[in-house]
Amino acid sequence: SVMNQLLGMHQVEKEISQYFGIKRCIVVAGNSDNQEKVLYEFGDILTDSLDLLLPEGDNIVAVMGGTTMALTAEHMGTLETEKRHNLFVPARGGIGEAMTVQANSVSAVMASKTGGHHRALYVPEQLSLETYNSLLQEPSIQEVLTLIEQSNCVVHSIGRALHMAARRKMSDDEMVMLKQNNAVAESFGYFFDEEGEVVYKIPRIGLQLKDVQKISNVVAIAGGKSKAKAIRAYMKNAPKQTWLITDEAAANEILKGV
Ligand code: G3H
Repeated sequence: SVMNQLLGMHQVEKEISQYFGIKRCIVVAGNSDNQEKVLYEFGDILTDSLDLLLPEGDNIVAVMGGTTMALTAEHMGTLETEKRHNLFVPARGGIGEAMTVQANSVSAVMASKTGGHHRALYVPEQLSLETYNSLLQEPSIQEVLTLIEQSNCVVHSIGRALHMAARRKMSDDEMVMLKQNNAVAESFGYFFDEEGEVVYKIPRIGLQLKDVQKISNVVAIAGGKSKAKAIRAYMKNAPKQTWLITDEAAANEILKGV
């Protein structure tokens, strides 16, 4: 029955949050590997979660990129109230994604869907270190970096390491190094092995992993059976305040190994 299914789902959510030692896990029915509607539901759930998490006053929500984040953003609803105002900013500078799934685009879409505001970080891809460093001195960039530092909420996804490295056109040397270090997961430009240890980091401005540890509201969104291994690896050392939004296919696969 539907009731039994719901009870079963709640049990799975509890088991996952206990297993990772995180604050909360929410599981959506289905498999986002082949059902786009699961990602739309992530949008509803993220809206409800942020509605509970974000306090009254001015909030700064730092968001990462990726296809999950982009589709989730498209299906969000309003979060703005008379007493609560939300500013969306990209969590990190360009890490080599296509325009539509870059953090800048995701934060713009989230702001428009939720009724909030956004600020973009204009740092082009593939810059020489010299240009990159001088660009960082620009007041308009410094201003957005300061806002990012002040964020009280982070929303990000989790990806498969080699898949993400290939999509971002990382070099052959980097690919070899990731394989040698058994990288299985990627999140905000960091790569993790099966134990959740960082094995590589793309050097970019914006939020670093140690900053995320200190932010009171963290939401990770990732689903699909194919991502189960990556989710499990990343979540092992995820900040304890994390809320994980995932789907049934990933959740069942994660619990199989427990
Ligand atoms: O940064 C990207 C995420 O780690 C995963 O991307 O949602 O396209 O799988 P995705």
